[in-house]
Amino acid sequence: MKSTIAQLKTRFEQAMVAAFGEDLAGTDPILVSASNPKFGDYQANVAMSLTKRLKQNPRAIATAIVENLDVSDCCEPPEIAGPGFINLRLRPDYLEAQLKVVQGSDRLAVAPSDQPQKVIVDFSSPNIAKEMHVGHLRSTIIGDSISRVLEFMGHDVLRLNHVGDWGTQFGMLITHLKAACPEALETGASVDIGDLVTFYKQAKQRFDADEDFKQRSREAVVALQSGDETATRAWKALCAQSRQEFQKIYDRLDIEIQERGESFYNPLLADVVKDLEDQGLLVEDQGAKVVFADGFTNKEGDPLPLIIQKSDGGYNYATTDLAAVRYRTTQDGAERILYVVDAGQGNHFAQVFQVAEKAGWVPEGVEFTHVPFGVVQGEDGKKFKTRSGDTVRLKDLLDQAVAIARADLETRIASENRDESPEFIADVAEKVGIGAVKYADLSQNRTSNYIFSYDKMLALQGNTAPYMLYAYVRVQGISRKGGIDFEHLPAEARIHLEDDTEFALARHLLQLDQVVEELAHDLYPNRLCQYLFELSQKFNQFYDRCSVLQANEPQRTSRLLLCDLTAKTLKLGLSLLGIQVLERM
Ligand code: ARG
Repeated sequence: MKSTIAQLKTRFEQAMVAAFGEDLAGTDPILVSASNPKFGDYQANVAMSLTKRLKQNPRAIATAIVENLDVSDCCEPPEIAGPGFINLRLRPDYLEAQLKVVQGSDRLAVAPSDQPQKVIVDFSSPNIAKEMHVGHLRSTIIGDSISRVLEFMGHDVLRLNHVGDWGTQFGMLITHLKAACPEALETGASVDIGDLVTFYKQAKQRFDADEDFKQRSREAVVALQSGDETATRAWKALCAQSRQEFQKIYDRLDIEIQERGESFYNPLLADVVKDLEDQGLLVEDQGAKVVFADGFTNKEGDPLPLIIQKSDGGYNYATTDLAAVRYRTTQDGAERILYVVDAGQGNHFAQVFQVAEKAGWVPEGVEFTHVPFGVVQGEDGKKFKTRSGDTVRLKDLLDQAVAIARADLETRIASENRDESPEFIADVAEKVGIGAVKYADLSQNRTSNYIFSYDKMLALQGNTAPYMLYAYVRVQGISRKGGIDFEHLPAEARIHLEDDTEFALARHLLQLDQVVEELAHDLYPNRLCQYLFELSQKFNQFYDRCSVLQANEPQRTSRLLLCDLTAKTLKLGLSLLGIQVLERM
């Protein structure tokens, strides 16, 4: 089913052509959800935008459009307001019929895209032997949610982990590994070298302090690059160890992602350079091979080069990304490629995309998009750190969220004199804690910096995961209390709307398709969070005002259906955010 707004847009386009001729075919009616329910459900703002073109006043334009507009099957007669807004209010029988359609659909009537694409989402992408920090956590959470939404919309999504598994840092790591853990060089299997972050720090310390170590590290880089067996084995062991650590985080967050690190592109780099050279795009700059992309300058205003090959022959981060651009379009056949990476890398991607474009590596119709996000800050507004000033480890961060969720839960259980099993407590604490971390991140406009606060994200009130989960639990409580099996309400049962709060809830429920479609396009998960938050609020208003289990039939069943649809919408919406619901909490 096409969303209501999409159907109305078509009707508007027809009306505009009927009123003003073929010239207006394809004109956007500028139809938006009404800002205030007093004005109805939707508002079309096109009349104001056509005054110059049609040389008429906007009210006259609006009148002519309305005279030709056929929406009587779904709307009350349209009203013209102010300078020329056209207000539409959906009819109750239309709302009820739509609800029936949604109820009968396991995707809640959100139609899959009629143009399914092959999409790559490049996200998470931590660096081997360095910690996966909160920035990577943001990328992981946002990238996963975007992937879920696109998959739900029927796109073929390849989730790629572009891990930093190559580079000069491996010289010192390999050299340190030789001394600290020689058995790793024998097998190349993952060995327990303990905590890799500490390992990295030790290696770095020796590298900075010991000239001999430094020299051996440089030799190790060369050895690794030329495919030396021992160096390769050591490198593999380090990657395997990191991978294991990363995987623990992904498992805990319920994230699926396929690793295809920077090293994967190594064999393709020379060809990238050659092709750029053949096309005359490469320039020698202080011994390095670079490309100058238009519009990029440094602080002094001088053109900023994108370094493709360093003077020592080594390749760069950008070279790998250029190789990835080619691989992703030609080998993967991707049509839309999204990079969920912090906003700080905006210039990098803009340059890479421009160079790829210039080199003719971006096929017609293929879209490359950097999906940026802001930095994570502590409550003091500074970079998020532990009290001692260290980087916060993701495992500790998640543990802490779960511990607070558990303490809250235990207090509540005690005050309500409930008797709950340790398994129940552990499960609820884990789901609430992880859900809260994810939701707190997703509910912010991703482009802004985000202030990390355990207290805020775990609060039972406000735009938080616990609030949303609680609304869901509340509905499940109704079914338990009334002994109702939502799956087996009478087949002919339907929702009939009477109270204002029922109307408000129903109208909101019917906007899910529009919200998800927009999200698949604009990639702002916070809009879905906002939608779910308002849904929970509207549900609570309805539930405070209208009796459900105590109501008489047929109202009772109608309201139960409304409750059930709310729960299903919450569950689906949260699942698109990567958050699992609970039946009780
Ligand atoms: N490893 C990089 C970092 O930690 C992120 C990689 C993002 N993806 C890409 N194709 N460049 O900053």
